[in-house]
Amino acid sequence: MGLLFCPSLALTMMTCVFLIQKQLSQTCECEPDSCYNNGTCEEKADDPSGFQCSCPSDFFGERCELSECQLNNCWNGATCVLNTTNSVSSCICPKGYHGTWCKKAKCGENATCYDTFRFKPLPENNENCDIEFNQRCL
Ligand SMILES: *[C@@H]1O[C@H](CO)[C@@H](O)[C@H](O)[C@H]1NC(C)=O
Ligand SMILES: *[C@@H]1O[C@H](CO)[C@@H](O)[C@H](O)[C@H]1NC(C)=O
Ligand SMILES: *[C@@H]1O[C@H](CO)[C@@H](O)[C@H](O)[C@H]1NC(C)=O
Repeated sequence: MGLLFCPSLALTMMTCVFLIQKQLSQTCECEPDSCYNNGTCEEKADDPSGFQCSCPSDFFGERCELSECQLNNCWNGATCVLNTTNSVSSCICPKGYHGTWCKKAKCGENATCYDTFRFKPLPENNENCDIEFNQRCL
């Protein structure tokens, strides 16, 4: 916002405040870059910012600036990638891990999947040792 120059001393204080408010509200209208990631902008007089963004799936935040990738849903050092065509995020798992969020490990020939709460071996889960259920390859 720039400073508004009150053009004339003849203007009352009230008029000046009115003009400043008018200028402020103008800077809050929808502009091409109001919403990121192809969010659509809608002017909302009752919203403090003056507008509201509708975000494509997988984007959120006041201005659609956040994506699921920023939630860090990928486990075990996986990389989150966003498909910008359909806004769907997915995890690229490091070697030895799989599953949507890379939470499942393949224990390999020299390790066994363990339930780390009860320290109980779960050899039947050696291919799908699931960190979500407190299972680890040991
Ligand atoms: C936004 O839409 C344009 C045109 O459809 C597309 O080329 C671009 O990749 C989109 N960007 C994102 C971040 O979805
Ligand atoms: C991204 O989404 C589009 C549309 O659903 C799909 O055709 C494309 O294969 C996807 N790209 C990747 C890298 O998954
Ligand atoms: C498993 O252990 C054997 C014997 O110590 C070793 O030769 C083999 O390389 C190990 N395999 C892996 C995948 O670590």
